[in-house]
Amino acid sequence: MQDGATVAGTRVVLVTGATGAIGQAIARQIAAHPRFKVILACRDEAKAERAVKQIVTVTGNRSVRYEVVDVSRRSSVESLAVRWQGPLHVLVNNAAVTPRRRQETPEGIELQLATNVLGYFWMIRAFSEHLKRSTPARVVNVASYWAGDLDLTDLEFRRRPYGNNAAYRQSKQADRMLTVAFAERLQSSGVAVNACHPGDVRSTLSGNLGFGGSQTPDEGARTPAWLAVDPIGGNVTGRYFEDLNEVACPFGANRAAVEELYRTCMGF
Ligand SMILES: NC(=O)c1ccc[n+]([C@@H]2O[C@H](COP(=O)([O-])OP(=O)(O)OC[C@H]3O[C@@H](n4cnc5c(N)ncnc54)[C@H](OP(=O)(O)O)[C@@H]3O)[C@@H](O)[C@H]2O)c1
Repeated sequence: MQDGATVAGTRVVLVTGATGAIGQAIARQIAAHPRFKVILACRDEAKAERAVKQIVTVTGNRSVRYEVVDVSRRSSVESLAVRWQGPLHVLVNNAAVTPRRRQETPEGIELQLATNVLGYFWMIRAFSEHLKRSTPARVVNVASYWAGDLDLTDLEFRRRPYGNNAAYRQSKQADRMLTVAFAERLQSSGVAVNACHPGDVRSTLSGNLGFGGSQTPDEGARTPAWLAVDPIGGNVTGRYFEDLNEVACPFGANRAAVEELYRTCMGF
């Protein structure tokens, strides 16, 4: 657990999926700023230890550590939030999966929905009081331009045949819609919520989708890390970014669908 005492001006950042290609690069780029304390939220302790060592060695920032969490399980997310001490200024939701066959969590939730959508949703809900106490604060949702065809009547692919590409595109549309829902709910508390496409990077996730990825992890991490540290990520809310630029997002415009998705997520 982090130290209760945080030096004035220090910003505390939590990055999920920070053992992965883009997540580790996001954490490293943020840790390159000495006033940032970075906590890697990871499910695999051995990988997390290696990632922390690598980031400390490369950046010289010793305020880097990890917490173990399985974001696909609400109880695990809530237990991390309960044991969290001190401020949280920035939450970067990044952890995601793309299994080729349909899988379910022990709670019986389809795994892409549980990890890529509910994982983001539960993290924001569980940490919102910490964020509100640490304002100005912000959330960065790592989404994708590869998004669409969300079916609110079949979020778990119970009726439709499961395809990992279809489930992934749906999940990334949902991340962008929930960004708008949370931005509206948290704006008056001083918490900004924005989404972005990172980059096209070779990773476990992109490999499962059959994509090679033409950018390095550091290139892919540029936009999310920028939203985490630059004033822009706190000055606007409910927006979607690609390659350091705001891009109009059609998914947030359908207010009824955004609210229905939010309500549905509340039910899990
Ligand atoms: N790669 C691309 O080209 C691309 C393009 C657009 C958007 N994105 C987005 O970028 C983000 C990162 O993707 P990536 O390509 O870096 O994927 P990746 O290398 O496969 O990394 C995924 C990360 O998520 C973690 N994770 C998965 N399930 C988890 C769980 N239940 N609890 C905690 N952590 C969990 C993984 O942990 P383990 O290390 O333990 O497996 C890993 O750290 C995703 O949100 C993705 O949608 C990626």
